[in-house]
Amino acid sequence: MNAPERATERRALDPVLQQAIDGLSQPQKRLPAALFYDDAGTELFQRISALPEYYLTRVEHALLDARSDALAALLAPTSARLSMVELGSGDGSKTALIAGALLRRSVGLSYFPIDTAQLALQQLATRFARELAAVRVQPVHGDYFDHWPVLPGDHAQAALMLGSNLGNYSTSEAIALLSAVRARMRAGDRLVLGLDLMKDPQVILDAYDDTAGVTAQFNLNLLTRLNRELGMNFDLARFRHYPCYSPLDGTARSFLVSSVRQVVHSTVLDRSLAFAEGETIYTEQSQKYDRAMIEQLATGSGFAVVGELTDARRWYALSVWRA
Ligand code: AVI
Repeated sequence: MNAPERATERRALDPVLQQAIDGLSQPQKRLPAALFYDDAGTELFQRISALPEYYLTRVEHALLDARSDALAALLAPTSARLSMVELGSGDGSKTALIAGALLRRSVGLSYFPIDTAQLALQQLATRFARELAAVRVQPVHGDYFDHWPVLPGDHAQAALMLGSNLGNYSTSEAIALLSAVRARMRAGDRLVLGLDLMKDPQVILDAYDDTAGVTAQFNLNLLTRLNRELGMNFDLARFRHYPCYSPLDGTARSFLVSSVRQVVHSTVLDRSLAFAEGETIYTEQSQKYDRAMIEQLATGSGFAVVGELTDARRWYALSVWRA
């Protein structure tokens, strides 16, 4: 393949793969969190969600189960029609609880789940058709802002980002993302964020370092995906999962560590990548929040916090904001 042909091939790449290539070219190698969610990664994340150490999904689910009516009242205080746009819906199992509560308030509900994981969207559509047929569901496959739905004038809008998905963004990225959401809303529209809160650091670290090794598989699956999609030859046995958590800034971080000095090659890019022994690829950040951080994010992106639902231990919050 000559240079112009290679350039064309690069231009045609999936944007997430392009980000991966750019990230691996930095002095501190890194990979975008969106790369996790191919079909295998989606299934591994579903297994993580059921692990004893990974409390996030369970606590959020219990919170939604117990408080969905209170949440529905905050989302649709008056409106008869509501359009719910969910960023990173996954399989919609938690949102189904909110949708059920909104239907109990006789809200005419349209639901636009946006996700890059095709498998999860299929599961969501099946679940809603079976359990909540009164909800008009229009799944959107792709990036959050590429296909933001155009909503009818008489619909109030609620945007949702559950599962502490916001935590996978740095503070500046989070403010940019939330500001972009705000730009698509009218004054008075609502945003609900599921946010993991700061707590005993060991509890947090264990959530990213489970004894069954599923999180390690999830992390290493990034390399499997690069092998398949960029023709790379990562040997997974030569990398290991390394999670850490800093209570100073509330950030859990995951890395892949090269256990030997090695060179990895990509046939698609016709390029090699060298790793020193002990060199890391930064693969994910999972931010944990306190009240001050939540306020700062809201005001920094054009919202006001109007409600917060938390569990008894204050491990997790559903924070409700008004545009
Ligand atoms: C999807 N996201 C909020 C998860 C998290 O906790 O950061 C992804 C995950 N990574 C490792 N375990 C779970």
